[in-house]
Parts: sequence; structure tokens; C-alpha cells
Amino acid sequence: MRAQLSDLERIVGPDAVLAGDSAQPFLHDATESRGLIGHALAVVMPADAAQVAGVLAWCYAHDVPLVPRGGGTGYAGGAVPVSGGVVVAMERMRRIRSFDPLLWRMHVEAGVTTAEVQRLARESGLRFPPDPGAPEVSQIGGNVATNAGGPHAFKYGVTGHWVTGVEAVVAPGEVVTFGGPLRKDVAGYDLRGLMVGSEGTLGVVTSVWLRLIPAAEAALPVLAFFDNTGSGCDAIRALLASGAVPAAIECLDAGALAVVTGACPFPVPDAARFAVLTEADGSRREAVEGRDALIEVLTDRALALHAPDEAAARDALWRWRGALSTATVTAHGGKVSEDIVVPLDRIDEAIEATVEIGRRHGLEACSYGHAGDGNLHCTFMIPLDETERAGAAADELASVATALGGSISGEHGLGVVKSGRLGRQWAPAAVELHSTVKRAFDPHGLINPGKKAP
Ligand code: MLT
Ligand code: ZN
Repeated sequence: MRAQLSDLERIVGPDAVLAGDSAQPFLHDATESRGLIGHALAVVMPADAAQVAGVLAWCYAHDVPLVPRGGGTGYAGGAVPVSGGVVVAMERMRRIRSFDPLLWRMHVEAGVTTAEVQRLARESGLRFPPDPGAPEVSQIGGNVATNAGGPHAFKYGVTGHWVTGVEAVVAPGEVVTFGGPLRKDVAGYDLRGLMVGSEGTLGVVTSVWLRLIPAAEAALPVLAFFDNTGSGCDAIRALLASGAVPAAIECLDAGALAVVTGACPFPVPDAARFAVLTEADGSRREAVEGRDALIEVLTDRALALHAPDEAAARDALWRWRGALSTATVTAHGGKVSEDIVVPLDRIDEAIEATVEIGRRHGLEACSYGHAGDGNLHCTFMIPLDETERAGAAADELASVATALGGSISGEHGLGVVKSGRLGRQWAPAAVELHSTVKRAFDPHGLINPGKKAP
């Protein structure tokens, strides 16, 4: 093992290699809340794409798995080294290679955090719209690898929509670029699109070219409470049918609401069993008109409704929503939280099925998430010693999602916790094509093995 570490030190420098047994923080991600911890020969922290290429070439020459790692905020274990090998942590690759605000574009290395991308854009009057959770910790490379989304994906789309180019290290150790600063390019197959959402199984993303837009002048949220899931979901569908253009449509069912009622910046009616958080944005005039249109639709069914105008109240509302994921962990110490997607006419059924599955397994369950996209974080809140029972419940939930015509993952990816389940929603020939793509990129099966669709 010492010889292997020395080889890696020669590639990335002696200060940028940690032996696996001293690398605990790099062996888990947010799936720690369901008890998943990996093991590694070493963690390396390359300074540039050439060093990443050197590490992959070494892994290919020595038949050692390589696991790319961003901020470690994933909920599917995508960055957890379950088969050992070398973890490639991107945190030293934080350069802004170029930023051209007047051309609405940025080229950044994979280790730059989401918050830094957003801040840089904001300081020049621009916006990078994707807003996955944990922005101070999550890194842009990981966001691209998982095609991360968040509340505002409803209007603005997920990360991939904003990526015009990807620089990646591919087997057996080459730096390649797919796309670049170009806003359009249909010359080849969309290999850029293939890298986006590939969960680090096709190569290591080392930098990305991002598209930006001018920031909206105003964003005005509306929080509405309902007395049951059905009327809340009807209100969501009415929003879409109304012609209003919400920037986000989030929901919390009764269980999720119960976890964060005390922290809500507005009073929660005793009878509330469902909440919708939506928002209108644009110029000040557009945002006000849009917000009024949202209120008009929601008012009929809502028990109570809050539409704060001040920036501080808006921030408080979104902070409240952002804290929900952690709050569901603290309820009992652990959680198994999924990210199924269902058609919008089936969201109530998915929410009710989650509670019912939880009841049968003796687990407290709730759902919250990006209702406008039909993307629900169906969650079993558990003590850490209940992970097996919760895993069985989550497996049933996956069947519910596909039976409702949905997907087992809209946000977290399959990672290791759902790996190999693509066959539940794709035909065998499609799954085989998927495997063929993996073999073309990674003929030795060493790049993030055991993840996505092994
Ligand atoms: C969220 O929507 O809060 C995040 O995706 C985190 C989670 O999955 O709970
Ligand atoms: Zn989410």
C-alpha cells in the first residue's frame, strides 16, 4: 500500500494524498443519515485536470476503482467509495477560468461551490438559476454529475439546462471537452448531455462552461395552507391551468409540515395538513402581477395565505423551506429520503401511498418537494437502526412511482442506493444501450463502480 500511495503522491504532490484510514470525512455523503459509509485506499486532491488524468491513468494501469467526489452532499451515495479505490476530491480545483458578464457566461472548475457561482453572477446583475440544496458545500462538478435541480427548476430547468460545455477526464486518462462557451452546437452526438447526470460513472468532470441570465428585479413568494392533500394538489394543478407562470411550486404534506411548523415564519393554522410555497418573479411589475395571479388561484381552496413583499420575509420563507431536509433527519436521527417523480395528476396518490407504506412498515413518513415538477422527497424518518426496514419501504415506493407512470429518481440520481433499478422503468433494450454507453466510456468498469446502473 505504501508503494501505491507514493505513486499517487508523485502525481498530485505529497500534501494532496490522504491514506484511506485517515480520510473519514471523504468516505460518506448525505446517505450517512441512512448509515452508508465507504472505504478507500486513498483520497487524492488534484490541482488541475492534468493531475486528474494522471490519477485515472494510474487507476486504469493498476486495476483500481476511482470515485469522483464533489461536496459530498448527495442523497444517493454517488460519491461514497463502496468498492474502495481512490477518491478524487475536487476541492482544490476552484479556479474561475473566465467570467464574461457582458456575454452572460462563466467557465469554472469543478470544485467551485454553487454559492460562489451564484454570488459571482449576482454581483454582476446576473443569475445562475439552479438552486439545489446545500449551496455553500455542494460543488458545481457534483451538480453537473447529478444534473441537480431545486425549487426554481420549475421555471428555469435543472443544472444541465445551463451547461454549454464540460471538460472531463475520460478513460484511460485523457482530458477532453464536450461543448464549450458556444450557446448552440449540434455537430456531434450530445456527449455533453451524456456527461450531465452520469453520476461520475463516465468520467471525472473537471470544469464546466455555464450560461447565465440577467437577474430578475423582483421575486415575490406566496405561502398557502390547505386542510388536506387533495385540495392542496388541486390548487397546484389549478396554478398550472390558470396561465400564471410560477418560478417555483413547492409542497409540504402533513408530516413534513409537522416537522417544521414551529420554525415557520408565518402562523400555521391548526387545521393545516398541506402547504404550497410558490413564487412569481420578473420585473417589479411582472412579479407583482404574477404574484396577484397566484393568490387569485390559491385563495379559493386555501385555509390561509401569506404573500410577503419584503426581501427579509422572502429570505426567511426560503430558509424555512431549505431547512426542511435537515429537519426530517433531526426528527429521529436518520432518514431514508427518496426523490421520485410522478405525473402531476398523480402527486396526491404518491403522497398518500408514502404514508400508507410507512404505516405498514411502522415508520413515520412524510413527503415534500418540488410539486410543480411532480418531484417528491418521500421520506421515512427513522432512528439509525431502522435503515433496513426503511430500505424495504423505499423499495416499495419505487414500485409505486413506476406504477404511477413516474421515475424512481428526479433529483438525487441512482447512486448506490438505487443502483441497478433502471430496469423498473426502462425496457431491457434501453437498459442494454445504457450499459453499452458505460462500457464505451469505461471499458474496465473502474470509474465509480457500483453506481447508477452497474
Ligand atoms: C430539497 O429539496 O430539500 C433537497 O433536494 C434535499 C432533499 O432531498 O431533501
Ligand atoms: Zn429537492
